[in-house]
Amino acid sequence: MKGIILAGGNGTRLLPLTMVTNKHLLPVYNKPMIYYPLETLAAAGIKDVLIVTGGNNPGDFLRLLKNGKSFALREIRFAYQEGSGGIAQALGLAEDFAEHDKIVVLLGDNIFDENMTEHVENFKHQEKGAKLFFKEVTDAHRFGIGEFNQGKLVGIEEKPSQPKSPMACSGLYMYDSQVFDIIKTLKPSKRGELEITDVNNFYIKQGTATYENLKSFWSDAGTFKTLFESAEFMKNKEK
Ligand code: G1P
Repeated sequence: MKGIILAGGNGTRLLPLTMVTNKHLLPVYNKPMIYYPLETLAAAGIKDVLIVTGGNNPGDFLRLLKNGKSFALREIRFAYQEGSGGIAQALGLAEDFAEHDKIVVLLGDNIFDENMTEHVENFKHQEKGAKLFFKEVTDAHRFGIGEFNQGKLVGIEEKPSQPKSPMACSGLYMYDSQVFDIIKTLKPSKRGELEITDVNNFYIKQGTATYENLKSFWSDAGTFKTLFESAEFMKNKEK
């Protein structure tokens, strides 16, 4: 399976820090943010990674990561997303790279402290569809939130004002090659983006989405508060 890290967008929630570099290159304690998803993929045995970037400083990624050898990857490739058309639009740029294989997708600002090898292996054996990963949160309005009926995932609502559960859909997704056809059918949401939640709801309706609950720390480090909390977690872990 190949890995795709989505690291586009303009990082407006982190201005003025994102004036001079991309959000995913900002420090999370002692490493640039992008190291965490790269290490998560490498630790799960993924060897080929595509980073979809964007914004004003895409060259900074190459300057930092070079050919990716230090992460024990076979190669890192790059793609460039123009504008801010959303996560699903960014993923659409990975179609050729994926070569009809199943893929693991990570959002570049999501920090996980969990080994994903078993999940990757399980998904290799899943006949088709998607695999999603949930974690209980206290700020549900920020995320895609799962709706469950007797333990069965029945839908995901993007940034609900009245969340139907406390379970956020994290930025780790596993998809079969159908995903690129699904993306082509999407229409922009109210925030003008192609939503990954619409992709996930397609799979849920199709009855081919499985899910797991994450056991360890997970954070979307895309706000000042969560960027700080992620750094704090990594520092405390070191003790
Ligand atoms: C995105 C997704 C959302 C998901 C979150 C995880 O939100 O749209 O469903 O829960 O990532 O980090 P965004 O970062 O676009 O606000």
